[in-house]
Amino acid sequence: MQKLDIKAHDIYTGDSSLKNRIEISNICKSYFSDDGVENKVLNSVNFEIESSEFVSIVGPSGCGKTTLLKIISGLLDPDSGQVKIGGESPAKSRKRKSIGYMFQDPALIPWRTVHENIKLPTEVNRQVGDANCRETKELISLVGLDGFATYYPHQLSGGMRQRVSLARALSTNPDLLLMDEPFAALDEITRESMRYELLDLWSKTKPTVIFVTHNSAEAVLLSDRVIVMPESGDGLAKSISVSIARPRSEKTESDAVFNQLIKKVRSAYKC
Ligand SMILES: Nc1ncnc2c1ncn2[C@@H]1O[C@H](COP(=O)(O)OP(=O)(O)OP(=O)(O)O)[C@@H](O)[C@H]1O
Ligand SMILES: [Mg+2]
Repeated sequence: MQKLDIKAHDIYTGDSSLKNRIEISNICKSYFSDDGVENKVLNSVNFEIESSEFVSIVGPSGCGKTTLLKIISGLLDPDSGQVKIGGESPAKSRKRKSIGYMFQDPALIPWRTVHENIKLPTEVNRQVGDANCRETKELISLVGLDGFATYYPHQLSGGMRQRVSLARALSTNPDLLLMDEPFAALDEITRESMRYELLDLWSKTKPTVIFVTHNSAEAVLLSDRVIVMPESGDGLAKSISVSIARPRSEKTESDAVFNQLIKKVRSAYKC
């Protein structure tokens, strides 16, 4: 059972407009087993994220990270409480295709090619004008899948499927990007280059990003702020500001402050 009560951090200096500011108020969510036993996963979650802020969420398996992302995206209703994205409901934001969601499981459609899977969000809702959408070809290049446009998901490796999922999440140029352990299935070298690709991309279009990871170094490298969710019980989540200058590079990774922050995240994780 999680209790989160975190305000947007005070040192954030990004875009302060309300366009894609996230406000999460008093979210509670329980699941019930077939025999009616309650599993209270989120208990009074209060959460604010500034417009264009890059926030990572780390926490032990089963603490409710995916549940929280699903509620923020509007795919799952909370039992109580509400989410506002730029002042509007998640359902409204989703309808405008202003939320990109990269699921923990890539969830590609098996009978559609790489190109067709990436194009899917723009096809599903024609209210989104093509001008808002990115070229599928450009996205394929961006995630390093040139030459694989006509492949089907079963012909790809796990890491390649995740890259298709990333391209699909980016296809509508979302204001809010929800990423649930997006790089977990990638090898270390690809994972590293994807991190920098993501930072580069974020710096260009500045969506608000909520990035779930189990990797403390990854969380610190990417984020303005890292939120550490506790394992269970009524423990409060901790918010750790990452005051390292951008743009970040491989040089950042040898920085003393960077390594101190990783230690700080790890020790918050263990508490
Ligand atoms: N659809 C569901 N029905 C019942 N229980 C669920 C459902 N989805 C999640 N849970 C339970 O809710 C809790 C939190 O799950 P969730 O997937 O949000 O955790 P997580 O922090 O994302 O974990 P991980 O790091 O392993 O991905 C777990 O105890 C899980 O068993
Ligand atoms: Mg999860």
